[in-house]
Amino acid sequence: MSAAVTQAPAPVVQATRPTTLLAADRSSTSSVQSSETLFDTDAKLDHTSHKPWKHFGFHHHHHHDSRNSSKESVAVVEERSASTKRGATFWASFKYLNNLTPKQVDDFMASYVIYNLDWEDEPAMIKALGPNYKQKVGDSLRAYYGVMNHLCALGSVEKMYIPPLMDKHVSVLDNQLLYEESIARDLGLKPGDRVLDIGCGRGRVAAHMAKYSGAQITGINIDPNQLAQAREWNAQQGLSNTFVERDQNDLPLPFADASFDAFYQIQAFSLCKDLPAMFREIYRVLKPGARFSMLDWVSLPAYDPTNPEHDALMRRVKPLIGAVGTPTPAGLEKALTDAGFQVTRSDNASVGGLQAPLIDKVDVYFRAVRQMILGLVRLHVLPKHFKTLINRLCLDGQAFVKMDEMRLISTSYRIIAVKPKEEAASA
Ligand SMILES: C[S@@+](CC[C@H](N)C(=O)[O-])C[C@H]1O[C@@H](n2cnc3c(N)ncnc32)[C@H](O)[C@@H]1O
Repeated sequence: MSAAVTQAPAPVVQATRPTTLLAADRSSTSSVQSSETLFDTDAKLDHTSHKPWKHFGFHHHHHHDSRNSSKESVAVVEERSASTKRGATFWASFKYLNNLTPKQVDDFMASYVIYNLDWEDEPAMIKALGPNYKQKVGDSLRAYYGVMNHLCALGSVEKMYIPPLMDKHVSVLDNQLLYEESIARDLGLKPGDRVLDIGCGRGRVAAHMAKYSGAQITGINIDPNQLAQAREWNAQQGLSNTFVERDQNDLPLPFADASFDAFYQIQAFSLCKDLPAMFREIYRVLKPGARFSMLDWVSLPAYDPTNPEHDALMRRVKPLIGAVGTPTPAGLEKALTDAGFQVTRSDNASVGGLQAPLIDKVDVYFRAVRQMILGLVRLHVLPKHFKTLINRLCLDGQAFVKMDEMRLISTSYRIIAVKPKEEAASA
């Protein structure tokens, strides 16, 4: 928790408990279909072991296809405490947001300029941000994520990603956990493995990965605010993950050759300026035979930038999801192969290739929160900047749903690759 959070005065609406808040949201939202609640993941889980990998190692894991079986997939892993204490983190974020300075709010709003740009169009980058644009993008990312991580923590996306739709019968949070567990299996993680996570958020994914597999995660993040929370969470959970403050665009990566047994990242690569160079670096720091997993935003073959409807949707969705680059599956595969990896899987990780049901769930939730916040701002219970923030956050959620349904883009595109045990003669 950052100093600003600990020093923050009590929120003005302290009497309202999070559950009440949620109940209010639900009743005002007719289109909520699921029984998902803000802090709902733990009740239905079976906590019988504190060391899941001892009982459910990957090799004798009840390999379920999470696309088919909700009951089984939820019951298999008992320890999901990476998602506990959501009430506490909700309030910590609420207080943090309540105490933002006008400059923090202005910088956050101004940071959106980068999402109208693209790494591919360097002249436009230089025109908007100057020759030192890499540094400027980094400043914007810090201003953006320093606030965004707290906004996301008001809902079930404290881990700042909408997961692939793994199982339509469970919550967004459970879909995140299921997806993270699938990463651990795809990577073949074992106790003691050293794993690199780029764009590690508040360290919650790393915590779940460590508990699930016994591996030790090193997370990189540009945002010191999230890192402070990651370290605090790690200590509270008694884990030995480590966290490094670093802009992923400052290559080389600060690690020795062959220092990791595996690599994963979730939705941070659109903020990487030079993916081919990044993949070469990841290749370098991985041991031979180590596996690579990424989940990210791509534009799909159906997307046609010359189609005015597609173009207009793209202009709305990029800022909403906070993407700078817009990679394609083919471009990612080529860059990985050029770096020396063998791509073993490249697909949309969502059931049926559609993430829209989860995007819609998150959108419906935040629009309900928005109604409540607007009401409280009108009553002068909350400071005005809440209105600015929540209006920005809720803009264009339905454009995102539409683009996903039209299969123009996806934020649940997965690639698994391996660094060959023996380097090819040409490499
Ligand atoms: C959309 S979130 C992805 C979710 C994240 N993996 C998690 O676990 O919450 C992107 C993450 O990448 C981080 N990030 C963004 N730009 C970065 C950069 N240039 N270098 C390092 N981390 C970055 C953000 O601070 C944030 O934690």
